[in-house]
Amino acid sequence: MKEAIERLRREGPQRISAAATPDELEALRVALLGRKGELTLMLRGLKDVPADERPALGAELNRLKQELTALLDGKGQELSAGRDEGAVAGVDLTLPAPRGAGLGTAHPLVSILESICDIFYGMGFSRAEGPEVELDYYNFTALNFPDDHPARDIQDTFYISDAVCLRTQTSPMQVRIMEQQQPPLAYVIPGRVYRNENADASHSSEFYQIEGLVVDRDISMADLKSTVDTFVRLFFGAEEPTRFRPHFFPFTEPSVEVDMQCVACRGKGCGVCGQTGWLEIMGAGMVHPNVFRAAGYPDDAYTGFAFGMGIDRIAMLKYGIDDIRLLYENDLRFLQQFRGVQ
Ligand code: DAH
Repeated sequence: MKEAIERLRREGPQRISAAATPDELEALRVALLGRKGELTLMLRGLKDVPADERPALGAELNRLKQELTALLDGKGQELSAGRDEGAVAGVDLTLPAPRGAGLGTAHPLVSILESICDIFYGMGFSRAEGPEVELDYYNFTALNFPDDHPARDIQDTFYISDAVCLRTQTSPMQVRIMEQQQPPLAYVIPGRVYRNENADASHSSEFYQIEGLVVDRDISMADLKSTVDTFVRLFFGAEEPTRFRPHFFPFTEPSVEVDMQCVACRGKGCGVCGQTGWLEIMGAGMVHPNVFRAAGYPDDAYTGFAFGMGIDRIAMLKYGIDDIRLLYENDLRFLQQFRGVQ
């Protein structure tokens, strides 16, 4: 027995370090420590050795068992770390994370987007999202854009083919939703949109919008106005006055642009609002009958309002960001400033 223990003490570590794969190592663990393993059989054989030798041999065997177990575990870690290294070449996944790497944080645009949507959920809206690669049909035709409308021009729209483009607005979801669902309905639709713009401090070829759509019987402009006012009060806090200016959009009639009093100067006129005292926050209007027609709704059965707001400028106002491009460059030095900011 003494000899067998000595041999295992010599050979065990060599056999363990020779194991090349996790499977080989597991087979070895069974061969040594399994129910019929070499060491297990020796422990069982203790009952046959003379009683006076038994305690010393027993202690010896238990120590050997601990040593081999530790070696097997260590080798196991080594082999699985090796496997990870193979999967992610050149990265040592066992290294501790660098100090200060910390948790990630919501992008400022996402924080704004979510808090705007939250306000509308509170007013009973649901949320929908749609494709960024969109059919020209939903982006323009179904929204009552005439064939020769300048917005269809290749200058503004990234076309992928004659029939497919990157959506220039979140409005195409209006018809997609109405095709699927009968009124009453109330949706907010946040998403990224694309326009072929030259980038500068206030223009980017990608930006975010939130679309709103409410359709039912007897929805009026008063519903639009009270919804917008409630949103402005809940989002910007103060009782900022809003105003509706007549405007034109092909898919709403009447159409308006909505301004709120400048949050920076409270209406006095400053650099932020171009001395006007007002900030434009969204386009809106009553859904055009041709849009209902495109969705397949019966004529004159329903009325509804829609709005669309850009959220980049709202984020820039809220956080004092002076260049829209910062929002899309993924520069960690910029993004890390928003840690913990809501
Ligand atoms: N889609 C318009 C744009 O990108 C914004 C807009 C205006 C959306 C009026 C609407 C609306 O839903 O009713 O300029």
